Amino acid sequence: MAHFSNGLRSWVLFLGCFLVLISPSLGSRLAASSRNKLEVQKHLKRLNKPPVKTIQSPDGDIIDCVHISHQPAFDHPFLKDHKIQMRPNYHPEGLYDENKVSDGHKERIAQLWHMNGRCAEGTIPVRRTKKDDVLRASSVKRYGKKKRRSIPKPRSVDPDLINQSGHQHAIAYVEGDKYYGAKATINVWEPKIQQPNEFSLSQIWILGGSFGEDLNSIEAGWQVSPDLYGDNNTRLFTYWTSDAYQATGCYNLLCSGFIQVNSEIAMGASISPVSAYRNSQYDVSILVWKDPKEGHWWMQFGNDYVLGYWPSFLFSYLADSASMIEWGGEVVNSGVDGHHTSTQMGSGHFPEEGFAKSSYFRKIQVVDSSNNLKAPKEVGTFTEQSNCYDVQTGSNEDWGHYFYYGGPGRNQNCP
Ligand SMILES: *[C@@H]1O[C@H](CO)[C@@H](O)[C@H](O)[C@H]1NC(C)=O
Ligand SMILES: *[C@@H]1O[C@H](CO)[C@@H](O)[C@H](O)[C@H]1NC(C)=O
Repeated sequence: MAHFSNGLRSWVLFLGCFLVLISPSLGSRLAASSRNKLEVQKHLKRLNKPPVKTIQSPDGDIIDCVHISHQPAFDHPFLKDHKIQMRPNYHPEGLYDENKVSDGHKERIAQLWHMNGRCAEGTIPVRRTKKDDVLRASSVKRYGKKKRRSIPKPRSVDPDLINQSGHQHAIAYVEGDKYYGAKATINVWEPKIQQPNEFSLSQIWILGGSFGEDLNSIEAGWQVSPDLYGDNNTRLFTYWTSDAYQATGCYNLLCSGFIQVNSEIAMGASISPVSAYRNSQYDVSILVWKDPKEGHWWMQFGNDYVLGYWPSFLFSYLADSASMIEWGGEVVNSGVDGHHTSTQMGSGHFPEEGFAKSSYFRKIQVVDSSNNLKAPKEVGTFTEQSNCYDVQTGSNEDWGHYFYYGGPGRNQNCP
Protein backbone atom coordinates (compact mmCIF):
# COMPACT_ATOMS: atom_id res chain seq x y z
CA MET A 1 0.00 0.00 0.00
CA ALA A 2 2.75 2.39 1.04
CA HIS A 3 4.64 1.47 -2.03
CA PHE A 4 1.63 2.16 -4.17
CA SER A 5 0.96 5.60 -2.68
CA ASN A 6 4.64 6.51 -2.94
CA GLY A 7 4.54 5.45 -6.53
CA LEU A 8 1.42 7.50 -7.06
CA ARG A 9 3.00 10.49 -5.43
CA SER A 10 6.07 10.39 -7.65
CA TRP A 11 3.89 9.91 -10.65
CA VAL A 12 1.86 13.00 -9.70
CA LEU A 13 5.07 14.89 -9.01
CA PHE A 14 6.47 13.82 -12.32
CA LEU A 15 3.30 14.81 -14.11
CA GLY A 16 3.31 18.14 -12.26
CA CYS A 17 6.88 18.92 -13.38
CA PHE A 18 6.02 17.85 -16.85
CA LEU A 19 3.06 20.22 -16.93
CA VAL A 20 5.15 23.04 -15.55
CA LEU A 21 7.77 22.34 -18.18
CA ILE A 22 5.45 22.32 -21.10
CA SER A 23 3.15 25.02 -19.79
CA PRO A 24 4.27 27.02 -16.78
CA SER A 25 1.04 28.98 -16.68
CA LEU A 26 -1.15 25.86 -16.75
CA GLY A 27 0.94 24.34 -13.96
CA SER A 28 0.54 27.33 -11.71
CA ARG A 29 -3.10 27.69 -12.57
CA LEU A 30 -3.69 24.09 -11.50
CA ALA A 31 -1.83 24.72 -8.25
CA ALA A 32 -3.80 27.92 -7.69
CA SER A 33 -7.12 26.24 -8.34
CA SER A 34 -6.45 23.39 -5.92
CA ARG A 35 -5.27 25.91 -3.33
CA ASN A 36 -8.48 27.85 -3.96
CA LYS A 37 -10.58 24.71 -3.60
CA LEU A 38 -9.00 24.06 -0.23
CA GLU A 39 -9.54 27.65 0.78
CA VAL A 40 -13.21 27.48 -0.22
CA GLN A 41 -13.70 24.28 1.74
CA LYS A 42 -12.06 25.74 4.83
CA HIS A 43 -14.23 28.82 4.55
CA LEU A 44 -17.42 26.77 4.20
CA LYS A 45 -16.44 24.77 7.25
CA ARG A 46 -15.95 27.99 9.21
CA LEU A 47 -19.32 29.40 8.15
CA ASN A 48 -21.53 26.31 8.24
CA LYS A 49 -21.76 25.11 11.81
CA PRO A 50 -22.95 21.56 12.51
CA PRO A 51 -26.78 21.70 12.51
CA VAL A 52 -29.19 20.19 15.03
CA LYS A 53 -31.79 20.02 12.26
CA THR A 54 -31.92 20.96 8.59
CA ILE A 55 -34.84 22.46 6.65
CA GLN A 56 -35.05 22.55 2.87
CA SER A 57 -36.66 25.81 1.71
CA PRO A 58 -38.83 25.88 -1.46
CA ASP A 59 -36.47 28.50 -2.95
CA GLY A 60 -33.52 26.08 -2.87
CA ASP A 61 -31.99 27.40 0.36
CA ILE A 62 -30.93 25.04 3.08
CA ILE A 63 -31.67 26.38 6.55
CA ASP A 64 -29.58 24.85 9.33
CA CYS A 65 -30.88 25.06 12.90
CA VAL A 66 -27.64 25.65 14.78
CA HIS A 67 -27.28 25.58 18.55
CA ILE A 68 -27.29 29.17 19.72
CA SER A 69 -23.88 28.89 21.37
CA HIS A 70 -22.32 27.43 18.19
CA GLN A 71 -23.17 30.39 15.95
CA PRO A 72 -20.43 32.12 13.89
CA ALA A 73 -20.23 35.08 16.31
CA PHE A 74 -18.42 32.95 18.85
CA ASP A 75 -15.45 32.42 16.54
CA HIS A 76 -14.54 36.01 17.40
CA PRO A 77 -11.63 36.08 19.86
CA PHE A 78 -13.33 38.84 21.89
CA LEU A 79 -16.50 36.76 22.22
CA LYS A 80 -14.95 33.58 23.55
CA ASP A 81 -16.29 34.20 27.05
CA HIS A 82 -19.25 36.33 26.09
CA LYS A 83 -22.46 35.66 27.96
CA ILE A 84 -25.35 35.80 25.47
CA GLN A 85 -27.99 38.33 26.34
CA MET A 86 -31.27 36.67 25.46
CA ARG A 87 -33.25 39.91 25.46
CA PRO A 88 -32.54 43.62 25.48
CA ASN A 89 -32.69 45.54 28.76
CA TYR A 90 -34.66 48.22 27.05
CA HIS A 91 -37.02 48.59 24.12
CA PRO A 92 -37.81 52.09 22.78
CA GLU A 93 -41.48 52.94 22.43
CA GLY A 94 -42.70 54.34 19.13
CA LEU A 95 -44.98 57.20 18.21
CA TYR A 96 -47.36 54.80 16.59
CA ASP A 97 -49.42 51.94 17.86
CA GLU A 98 -48.05 49.12 15.75
CA ASN A 99 -50.95 46.83 16.52
CA LYS A 100 -53.52 49.26 15.20
CA VAL A 101 -55.43 47.42 12.49
CA SER A 102 -56.26 50.44 10.36
CA ASP A 103 -53.62 50.91 7.74
CA GLY A 104 -54.58 48.08 5.44
CA HIS A 105 -51.21 46.34 5.32
CA LYS A 106 -52.11 43.66 7.74
CA GLU A 107 -51.10 40.59 5.85
CA ARG A 108 -48.19 38.93 7.53
CA ILE A 109 -44.82 38.92 5.96
CA ALA A 110 -42.86 35.79 6.67
CA GLN A 111 -39.95 33.82 5.35
CA LEU A 112 -40.38 31.24 2.65
CA TRP A 113 -38.58 28.42 4.49
CA HIS A 114 -41.29 28.45 7.20
CA MET A 115 -43.40 26.41 4.77
CA ASN A 116 -41.19 23.40 5.47
CA GLY A 117 -40.46 23.61 9.19
CA ARG A 118 -39.22 25.61 12.15
CA CYS A 119 -36.15 25.69 14.36
CA ALA A 120 -36.51 24.79 18.05
CA GLU A 121 -35.90 27.23 20.89
CA GLY A 122 -32.24 27.32 21.79
CA THR A 123 -31.20 27.08 18.14
CA ILE A 124 -30.97 29.75 15.45
CA PRO A 125 -31.79 29.35 11.75
CA VAL A 126 -28.74 29.92 9.53
CA ARG A 127 -28.86 30.03 5.73
CA ARG A 128 -26.28 27.46 4.65
CA THR A 129 -23.52 28.83 2.43
CA LYS A 130 -22.94 26.67 -0.63
CA LYS A 131 -19.75 26.25 -2.59
CA ASP A 132 -21.26 28.15 -5.53
CA ASP A 133 -22.08 31.11 -3.27
CA VAL A 134 -18.41 31.49 -2.41
CA LEU A 135 -17.24 30.84 -5.98
CA ARG A 136 -19.38 33.72 -7.29
CA ALA A 137 -17.42 36.17 -5.10
CA SER A 138 -14.34 37.90 -6.53
CA SER A 139 -12.32 36.04 -3.90
CA VAL A 140 -12.93 33.87 -0.85
CA LYS A 141 -11.90 36.82 1.30
CA ARG A 142 -14.41 39.18 -0.28
CA TYR A 143 -17.35 36.76 -0.02
CA GLY A 144 -20.12 38.34 2.06
CA LYS A 145 -18.51 41.77 2.04
CA LYS A 146 -19.59 44.98 0.37
CA LYS A 147 -17.33 46.68 -2.11
CA ARG A 148 -15.62 49.80 -0.87
CA ARG A 149 -16.71 53.20 -2.10
CA SER A 150 -20.37 52.41 -1.80
CA ILE A 151 -21.11 54.80 1.02
CA PRO A 152 -23.92 57.24 0.32
CA LYS A 153 -22.48 60.56 1.39
CA PRO A 154 -24.97 63.36 0.92
CA ARG A 155 -23.91 66.82 -0.25
CA SER A 156 -20.16 66.53 -0.46
CA VAL A 157 -20.07 64.06 -3.30
CA ASP A 158 -17.14 63.56 -5.57
CA PRO A 159 -19.02 63.03 -8.84
CA ASP A 160 -16.21 61.12 -10.50
CA LEU A 161 -16.00 58.66 -7.65
CA ILE A 162 -19.73 58.00 -7.75
CA ASN A 163 -19.76 57.50 -11.48
CA GLN A 164 -16.74 55.23 -11.18
CA SER A 165 -18.12 52.93 -8.53
CA GLY A 166 -21.56 52.72 -10.11
CA HIS A 167 -23.33 52.80 -6.74
CA GLN A 168 -26.42 54.95 -6.85
CA HIS A 169 -28.73 55.99 -4.06
CA ALA A 170 -32.05 57.66 -3.43
CA ILE A 171 -32.22 58.35 0.29
CA ALA A 172 -33.62 60.49 3.06
CA TYR A 173 -31.32 61.33 5.97
CA VAL A 174 -30.84 63.22 9.22
CA GLU A 175 -27.61 64.44 10.79
CA GLY A 176 -26.31 66.95 13.31
CA ASP A 177 -27.41 65.18 16.45
CA LYS A 178 -26.57 62.08 18.46
CA TYR A 179 -28.76 59.14 17.47
CA TYR A 180 -29.32 55.93 19.37
CA GLY A 181 -31.31 54.08 16.76
CA ALA A 182 -33.80 54.34 13.92
CA LYS A 183 -36.97 52.74 12.70
CA ALA A 184 -39.04 52.59 9.53
CA THR A 185 -41.73 50.52 7.90
CA ILE A 186 -40.39 49.51 4.51
CA ASN A 187 -42.45 48.55 1.47
CA VAL A 188 -41.21 45.20 0.11
CA TRP A 189 -40.74 44.62 -3.64
CA GLU A 190 -38.70 42.43 -5.94
CA PRO A 191 -36.80 44.80 -8.24
CA LYS A 192 -35.36 43.43 -11.50
CA ILE A 193 -31.60 43.26 -11.75
CA GLN A 194 -30.13 43.51 -15.23
CA GLN A 195 -26.61 42.18 -14.60
CA PRO A 196 -25.79 39.43 -12.08
CA ASN A 197 -23.03 41.55 -10.52
CA GLU A 198 -25.47 44.34 -9.70
CA PHE A 199 -27.84 44.53 -6.73
CA SER A 200 -30.79 46.54 -5.49
CA LEU A 201 -31.49 47.12 -1.82
CA SER A 202 -33.68 49.15 0.50
CA GLN A 203 -32.41 49.71 4.00
CA ILE A 204 -31.66 51.81 7.06
CA TRP A 205 -28.07 52.99 7.63
CA ILE A 206 -26.91 53.83 11.17
CA LEU A 207 -23.66 55.72 10.65
CA GLY A 208 -20.91 56.86 12.99
CA GLY A 209 -17.81 58.94 12.33
CA SER A 210 -16.80 61.01 9.37
CA PHE A 211 -16.89 59.38 5.98
CA GLY A 212 -13.22 58.39 6.20
CA GLU A 213 -11.50 55.04 6.44
CA ASP A 214 -12.95 54.52 9.90
CA LEU A 215 -16.64 54.90 9.07
CA ASN A 216 -18.87 52.77 11.31
CA SER A 217 -22.07 51.47 9.82
CA ILE A 218 -24.94 49.20 10.83
CA GLU A 219 -27.38 48.38 8.05
CA ALA A 220 -30.60 46.39 7.76
CA GLY A 221 -33.29 45.96 5.14
CA TRP A 222 -34.12 43.86 2.11
CA GLN A 223 -32.06 43.19 -0.99
CA VAL A 224 -31.97 41.37 -4.31
CA SER A 225 -28.40 40.29 -5.06
CA PRO A 226 -27.79 37.50 -7.60
CA ASP A 227 -24.06 37.48 -6.81
CA LEU A 228 -24.53 37.01 -3.09
CA TYR A 229 -27.43 34.53 -3.15
CA GLY A 230 -27.53 33.02 -6.66
CA ASP A 231 -31.11 34.09 -7.40
CA ASN A 232 -33.41 37.11 -7.76
CA ASN A 233 -35.36 36.69 -4.52
CA THR A 234 -35.99 39.52 -2.07
CA ARG A 235 -34.10 38.71 1.11
CA LEU A 236 -33.79 40.11 4.60
CA PHE A 237 -30.25 41.27 5.24
CA THR A 238 -28.01 43.08 7.70
CA TYR A 239 -24.55 44.53 7.33
CA TRP A 240 -21.96 46.04 9.64
CA THR A 241 -18.50 47.53 9.29
CA SER A 242 -16.22 49.56 11.52
CA ASP A 243 -13.76 50.57 8.80
CA ALA A 244 -15.73 51.70 5.77
CA TYR A 245 -16.18 48.20 4.31
CA GLN A 246 -12.46 47.36 4.28
CA ALA A 247 -11.38 44.61 6.68
CA THR A 248 -14.22 44.37 9.19
CA GLY A 249 -17.83 43.39 8.84
CA CYS A 250 -20.05 41.46 6.47
CA TYR A 251 -23.57 40.64 5.43
CA ASN A 252 -25.77 38.61 7.77
CA LEU A 253 -23.86 35.97 9.74
CA LEU A 254 -21.11 35.61 7.14
CA CYS A 255 -18.45 36.63 9.64
CA SER A 256 -18.34 36.71 13.41
CA GLY A 257 -19.95 39.78 14.91
CA PHE A 258 -23.74 39.76 15.10
CA ILE A 259 -25.16 37.60 17.88
CA GLN A 260 -28.52 36.10 16.98
CA VAL A 261 -30.98 35.08 19.69
CA ASN A 262 -34.09 34.52 17.56
CA SER A 263 -35.10 31.02 16.43
CA GLU A 264 -37.67 32.09 13.81
CA ILE A 265 -36.02 34.44 11.33
CA ALA A 266 -32.98 33.61 9.19
CA MET A 267 -30.70 36.38 7.96
CA GLY A 268 -30.35 36.27 4.20
CA ALA A 269 -33.51 34.17 3.76
CA SER A 270 -36.26 35.11 1.27
CA ILE A 271 -39.13 37.33 2.38
CA SER A 272 -42.59 36.49 1.11
CA PRO A 273 -44.93 37.77 -0.18
CA VAL A 274 -43.71 40.87 -2.05
CA SER A 275 -45.79 43.79 -3.35
CA ALA A 276 -47.24 43.94 -6.85
CA TYR A 277 -47.84 47.02 -9.02
CA ARG A 278 -51.37 48.44 -8.51
CA ASN A 279 -52.05 45.40 -6.34
CA SER A 280 -51.44 44.07 -2.80
CA GLN A 281 -48.83 45.97 -0.82
CA TYR A 282 -46.61 44.43 1.84
CA ASP A 283 -44.29 46.18 4.23
CA VAL A 284 -42.18 45.30 7.20
CA SER A 285 -40.85 47.43 10.04
CA ILE A 286 -37.20 47.41 11.02
CA LEU A 287 -35.92 48.87 14.26
CA VAL A 288 -32.29 49.16 15.32
CA TRP A 289 -31.51 50.64 18.73
CA LYS A 290 -28.76 50.91 21.29
CA ASP A 291 -29.30 49.26 24.63
CA PRO A 292 -28.50 52.09 27.10
CA LYS A 293 -27.23 49.62 29.72
CA GLU A 294 -24.89 47.28 27.83
CA GLY A 295 -24.36 49.51 24.81
CA HIS A 296 -25.11 46.75 22.27
CA TRP A 297 -27.04 47.58 19.10
CA TRP A 298 -30.20 45.47 18.83
CA MET A 299 -32.32 44.74 15.80
CA GLN A 300 -36.00 43.93 15.47
CA PHE A 301 -37.74 42.65 12.32
CA GLY A 302 -41.50 43.21 12.10
CA ASN A 303 -43.39 43.72 15.35
CA ASP A 304 -42.57 40.34 16.79
CA TYR A 305 -39.00 39.32 16.13
CA VAL A 306 -36.07 40.64 18.12
CA LEU A 307 -33.26 39.10 16.09
CA GLY A 308 -30.20 39.79 18.19
CA TYR A 309 -27.45 42.35 18.60
CA TRP A 310 -24.10 43.72 17.48
CA PRO A 311 -21.86 43.94 20.55
CA SER A 312 -20.67 47.46 21.22
CA PHE A 313 -16.96 46.50 21.10
CA LEU A 314 -17.19 45.85 17.34
CA PHE A 315 -17.33 49.62 16.81
CA SER A 316 -15.43 52.81 17.57
CA TYR A 317 -17.84 55.73 16.97
CA LEU A 318 -20.96 53.62 17.31
CA ALA A 319 -19.77 52.42 20.69
CA ASP A 320 -21.02 55.86 21.74
CA SER A 321 -23.75 56.95 19.31
CA ALA A 322 -24.59 57.44 15.64
CA SER A 323 -24.04 60.80 13.93
CA MET A 324 -26.23 60.20 10.91
CA ILE A 325 -29.20 58.06 9.90
CA GLU A 326 -30.09 57.28 6.31
CA TRP A 327 -33.13 55.47 4.87
CA GLY A 328 -33.61 54.49 1.24
CA GLY A 329 -32.39 52.55 -1.74
CA GLU A 330 -29.07 51.67 -3.32
CA VAL A 331 -28.29 49.94 -6.60
CA VAL A 332 -25.18 49.16 -8.56
CA ASN A 333 -25.19 50.34 -12.16
CA SER A 334 -22.47 48.50 -14.02
CA GLY A 335 -23.03 50.65 -17.10
CA VAL A 336 -22.85 48.08 -19.87
CA ASP A 337 -21.87 49.51 -23.31
CA GLY A 338 -21.86 53.06 -22.00
CA HIS A 339 -25.54 52.88 -21.05
CA HIS A 340 -27.16 52.96 -17.67
CA THR A 341 -28.52 49.50 -16.89
CA SER A 342 -32.22 48.91 -16.30
CA THR A 343 -31.72 47.62 -12.78
CA GLN A 344 -34.66 48.80 -10.72
CA MET A 345 -34.69 50.48 -7.33
CA GLY A 346 -37.71 49.95 -5.08
CA SER A 347 -40.63 49.04 -7.32
CA GLY A 348 -38.86 50.28 -10.44
CA HIS A 349 -41.26 53.27 -10.56
CA PHE A 350 -40.60 56.92 -9.70
CA PRO A 351 -41.97 58.60 -6.53
CA GLU A 352 -44.50 60.70 -8.50
CA GLU A 353 -46.61 57.61 -9.09
CA GLY A 354 -47.42 57.24 -5.38
CA PHE A 355 -48.97 54.39 -3.43
CA ALA A 356 -49.10 50.84 -4.83
CA LYS A 357 -46.87 51.93 -7.71
CA SER A 358 -43.78 53.51 -6.19
CA SER A 359 -42.00 52.01 -3.16
CA TYR A 360 -42.11 53.78 0.22
CA PHE A 361 -40.64 54.05 3.70
CA ARG A 362 -43.23 55.22 6.24
CA LYS A 363 -43.17 56.10 9.93
CA ILE A 364 -39.49 56.95 9.79
CA GLN A 365 -38.25 57.68 13.30
CA VAL A 366 -35.02 58.10 15.23
CA VAL A 367 -34.11 57.13 18.78
CA ASP A 368 -33.04 60.28 20.65
CA SER A 369 -30.70 60.72 23.61
CA SER A 370 -33.50 59.97 26.05
CA ASN A 371 -33.97 56.63 24.23
CA ASN A 372 -37.36 57.47 22.80
CA LEU A 373 -38.48 57.05 19.24
CA LYS A 374 -39.43 60.37 17.74
CA ALA A 375 -40.10 61.96 14.36
CA PRO A 376 -36.91 63.19 12.70
CA LYS A 377 -36.29 66.91 12.37
CA GLU A 378 -35.22 68.32 9.01
CA VAL A 379 -35.09 65.30 6.77
CA GLY A 380 -32.70 65.83 3.86
CA THR A 381 -32.76 63.90 0.61
CA PHE A 382 -30.00 62.83 -1.73
CA THR A 383 -29.70 61.13 -5.10
CA GLU A 384 -26.84 61.09 -7.60
CA GLN A 385 -28.97 61.10 -10.75
CA SER A 386 -32.63 61.87 -10.10
CA ASN A 387 -33.47 60.98 -13.70
CA CYS A 388 -32.52 57.38 -12.91
CA TYR A 389 -33.71 57.05 -9.29
CA ASP A 390 -35.46 59.73 -7.25
CA VAL A 391 -36.83 60.40 -3.76
CA GLN A 392 -39.71 62.56 -2.45
CA THR A 393 -40.56 63.12 1.20
CA GLY A 394 -43.85 63.96 2.86
CA SER A 395 -45.72 63.66 6.14
CA ASN A 396 -49.26 63.01 7.28
CA GLU A 397 -51.03 61.76 10.34
CA ASP A 398 -51.27 58.12 9.34
CA TRP A 399 -47.77 57.58 8.01
CA GLY A 400 -45.85 60.22 9.97
CA HIS A 401 -42.71 61.14 8.03
CA TYR A 402 -42.51 59.09 4.88
CA PHE A 403 -40.97 59.10 1.43
CA TYR A 404 -41.38 57.45 -1.91
CA TYR A 405 -38.16 56.47 -3.68
CA GLY A 406 -36.73 54.49 -6.58
CA GLY A 407 -36.98 54.29 -10.33
CA PRO A 408 -36.35 52.17 -13.39
CA GLY A 409 -32.72 53.01 -14.02
CA ARG A 410 -32.28 53.30 -17.77
CA ASN A 411 -34.95 55.40 -19.50
CA GLN A 412 -35.20 58.29 -21.93
CA ASN A 413 -33.78 60.73 -19.38
CA CYS A 414 -31.22 58.29 -17.99
CA PRO A 415 -29.58 56.89 -21.10
C1 LIG B 1 -22.41 60.85 -13.68
O1 LIG B 1 -22.32 60.85 -15.10
C2 LIG B 1 -23.51 61.25 -15.75
C3 LIG B 1 -23.32 61.05 -17.23
O2 LIG B 1 -22.03 61.41 -17.64
C4 LIG B 1 -23.84 62.68 -15.36
O3 LIG B 1 -25.02 63.10 -16.01
C5 LIG B 1 -24.03 62.74 -13.86
O4 LIG B 1 -24.27 64.06 -13.46
C6 LIG B 1 -22.80 62.20 -13.14
N1 LIG B 1 -23.11 62.07 -11.74
C7 LIG B 1 -22.74 62.99 -10.86
C8 LIG B 1 -23.13 62.76 -9.45
O5 LIG B 1 -22.13 63.97 -11.20
C1 LIG C 1 -32.47 36.96 -12.56
O1 LIG C 1 -33.12 37.88 -13.41
C2 LIG C 1 -32.46 38.12 -14.65
C3 LIG C 1 -33.25 39.15 -15.43
O2 LIG C 1 -33.79 40.13 -14.64
C4 LIG C 1 -32.36 36.83 -15.44
O3 LIG C 1 -31.65 37.06 -16.63
C5 LIG C 1 -31.65 35.80 -14.59
O4 LIG C 1 -31.65 34.57 -15.27
C6 LIG C 1 -32.32 35.62 -13.24
N1 LIG C 1 -31.47 34.75 -12.43
C7 LIG C 1 -31.94 33.69 -11.80
C8 LIG C 1 -30.96 32.88 -11.04
O5 LIG C 1 -33.13 33.39 -11.82
